[in-house]
Amino acid sequence: MFANPFAFADPLEFADPFGKDVPLTRWSTAWVFGGSQGIGRAVAEALAAGGSRVAIFARRPEPLEAAALEISAHAGGDGSAQAFPADVEDALGVAAACDKAAATFGPPRLVVNCAGRARPRRFVELTVEDLRATLRANLEGAWNVSQAALPHLTERGGTLVHTASLAGLIGVYGYSDYAASKAGLIALCEVLRQELEPKGVDVRVLCPPDVDTPGFSEENRSKPRETRLLSGSGGLLTAREVAGDLLKGLEGSRWQIVPGRTNRLAVRLKGIAPGLVDRLLRARLRRLQRQD
Ligand SMILES: NC(=O)c1ccc[n+]([C@@H]2O[C@H](COP(=O)([O-])OP(=O)(O)OC[C@H]3O[C@@H](n4cnc5c(N)ncnc54)[C@H](OP(=O)(O)O)[C@@H]3O)[C@@H](O)[C@H]2O)c1
Repeated sequence: MFANPFAFADPLEFADPFGKDVPLTRWSTAWVFGGSQGIGRAVAEALAAGGSRVAIFARRPEPLEAAALEISAHAGGDGSAQAFPADVEDALGVAAACDKAAATFGPPRLVVNCAGRARPRRFVELTVEDLRATLRANLEGAWNVSQAALPHLTERGGTLVHTASLAGLIGVYGYSDYAASKAGLIALCEVLRQELEPKGVDVRVLCPPDVDTPGFSEENRSKPRETRLLSGSGGLLTAREVAGDLLKGLEGSRWQIVPGRTNRLAVRLKGIAPGLVDRLLRARLRRLQRQD
């Protein structure tokens, strides 16, 4: 484990809700975008179980309210969750929701953005409108969250996490628009790290592999056969495992948090030998295509 150079993480200890490997750092106040289901919901649950006051944000008010109630019912210590409906694609709406959350809970120590979407299809089946919709949700949404949360995050210092994807680090068949949006998001986070560190904000990016969530089920409806076969061999993590890896990762100094050991090895190999990874991936695709 790496020493965290950012001293503003609340150093209070709490009973570990997710197993002995999850760190014992307590975030007093956290905001989770996309907190009503999937990865964001699991992150919000883990934080509230650890005693954090968590503001959760998503578009649909009913599932969001229901999630806040359930998360609060299982919260530990002073932990609780409250719903703040907002669409990350609406800059003014996100800013207004952040102001409300700050007025309710005070400035956040941790902001985790998990709002996003994937609609995998072959490039030839996609239109520029599909690209724009994906960029709006995954890149412009993250942009809006960053701008809206920043004035609150800088009040006491804190951590900002955006959720990209392993597909933003290693391109995968069927994800042309999605991979481009997530690679762009990783680049955005890299710049924000440099610009916001002097303001006391530690920016990280979470790059999950396939995770069993409602969003993943939706994604499977349009997934090309090759994408399904390629991703199927990589295994499926639970949202809870990803939340645990994120909280553990925030204790270390790596700015790209990649859940799963084999995924971390793949990313490392891509860094060392990108040509080899490209050849291996294409060879595997050719084998899969021959199996038709
Ligand atoms: N699951 C995977 O396999 C996987 C792998 C790699 C990366 N990721 C990334 O991880 C993130 C979470 O994925 P997930 O699978 O947990 O998704 P999910 O199950 O679809 O949940 C998405 C959450 O974000 C909210 N949301 C979506 N669009 C929003 C918007 N425009 N404004 C505000 N909230 C919005 C949703 O609620 P509402 O619909 O009510 O707004 C929901 O709470 C996404 O960025 C995804 O790209 C997922």
